[in-house]
Amino acid sequence: MQTVRDLNDLRAAVAAFRADGARVALVPTMGALHAGHVALVEAAKRPGTKVVASIFVNPKQFGPNEDLARYPRREAADSRMLVEAGCDLLWLPPVEAMYPEGFATSIGVAGVSEGLDGAARPGHFDGVATVVAKLFNQVTPDAAYFGEKDFQQLAVIRRMVADLDFGLEIVGVPTQRDDDGLALSSRNIYLDDEQRAKAVALPRALGVAARAIGRGDDAETALGDAQNSLLAAGFVVDYVALVDAETLAPAPPADRPRRLLAAARMGQTRLIDNIAIDAD
Ligand code: PAF
Repeated sequence: MQTVRDLNDLRAAVAAFRADGARVALVPTMGALHAGHVALVEAAKRPGTKVVASIFVNPKQFGPNEDLARYPRREAADSRMLVEAGCDLLWLPPVEAMYPEGFATSIGVAGVSEGLDGAARPGHFDGVATVVAKLFNQVTPDAAYFGEKDFQQLAVIRRMVADLDFGLEIVGVPTQRDDDGLALSSRNIYLDDEQRAKAVALPRALGVAARAIGRGDDAETALGDAQNSLLAAGFVVDYVALVDAETLAPAPPADRPRRLLAAARMGQTRLIDNIAIDAD
């Protein structure tokens, strides 16, 4: 795996892939890689495709009271994981190159980025959309892979790509989970043993509510029950919401694809998860 930190070197490496007739797939990450990221690389790997992963802890998507400074940075371990996963190129842009003095552009995706995490984390999705647009322009991939765990992020990126004619395929990859069901996240390492044991309440509460809603039970009651299970497990709940899986609009009719999303804090650690509603 080649590692590049300079935009000219990145462009030269991608041009060499294309000169060989390869398709280029991008896996954007903030590092602290886990099996969820490996699943993205594996999904991206296809015959005739070169996989580019990026690692950039993007300051623009962290709020002033969020964990930018303590966000885990593990370049050597990440790099080893990417080699093992079969990644072809690692793009590691320095922050001064991404946001040089005078950088003034921000991409805002209205609607889909406004509720849920967008309401709880003002500016977060503008930061995500801006950095992802830059990564797309830098790498010029044919396809890019994102985890469904960040379901709203995926919806925001799909909207941006459609609106701005990026002309690449966005692929959502199912959430990878620990044996007990907790969604893999770089932030899980913040949980101590007791918090980690309690955190399983999040996927369990979503699973119970999704099954209830899928079989036609009252959605408000199911959402209330999920909220209560989370509170009982020691979470502070940001939201538990039933939304349209494409637009993320609330109160979707049952004939639309629907998704149940939740965000809740265990101590200082904010966890998110989501699950599809499958009609019985
Ligand atoms: O999901 C992430 O790790 C980040 O939000 C992303 C897409 C790499 C943008 O910084």
